[in-house]
Amino acid sequence: MEKKALDTTMSHAFMFPMPTVLVGTVVEGRPNYMTAAWCSPACASPPMIAVAINHIRHTTLGIKEQNAFSINVPATRQVVETDFCGIASGNKTDKSGVFTPFYGRLKVPMARECPFNVECGLHTTVDLGSHVLYIGKVEGVFADQDCAPDNNPDPVRIDPIVYIRGKYYRVGDAYADAFTTGKQYKE
Ligand SMILES: Cc1cc2nc3c(=O)[nH]c(=O)nc-3n(C[C@H](O)[C@H](O)[C@H](O)COP(=O)(O)O)c2cc1C
Repeated sequence: MEKKALDTTMSHAFMFPMPTVLVGTVVEGRPNYMTAAWCSPACASPPMIAVAINHIRHTTLGIKEQNAFSINVPATRQVVETDFCGIASGNKTDKSGVFTPFYGRLKVPMARECPFNVECGLHTTVDLGSHVLYIGKVEGVFADQDCAPDNNPDPVRIDPIVYIRGKYYRVGDAYADAFTTGKQYKE
């Protein structure tokens, strides 16, 4: 197949699917939740998560204030609240009531309605240009009772929101096992 060269600003457009998470912070004493799709595991041991946040977001003030943030995984039933937190900024709109906060060790607000929550202490900040990559060390992980049978988070029960270029999707069916399917490869 012949290739066509695209604009380099389109480079993030191929990174799909993406997760849809809510970054929880406290800004000037008020809980704030920001929708983020540029979020990824960053290290297994110690466990770390990275999230890329534009300099202009209200959330950045909260991360600076507390040196901590939470990552909350909403379910598809929370799509309205989740999208709202990606439209409205905490600098103009009080988003503290969109979710019910609960707290772990770090005193960053986690959204009780979201089935999966992680609290992170800020480990490293990498200023990349428009966005700052915040790498957080995981200090606590919480899941709804019915979403983590055998203490393993279950993606079907969590029913996370998948983000792809301006649309929300659901997780589809599994069709192959990772780390074993490749053994069928023959040169
Ligand atoms: C689906 C979706 C994904 C988003 N992902 C990001 C992201 O990864 N990083 C970012 O800086 N902004 C992202 N945004 C934009 C922010 O969520 C939005 O600007 C929000 O109003 C910022 O809130 P704050 O000012 O209260 O922090 C996203 C918005 C939506 C709807």
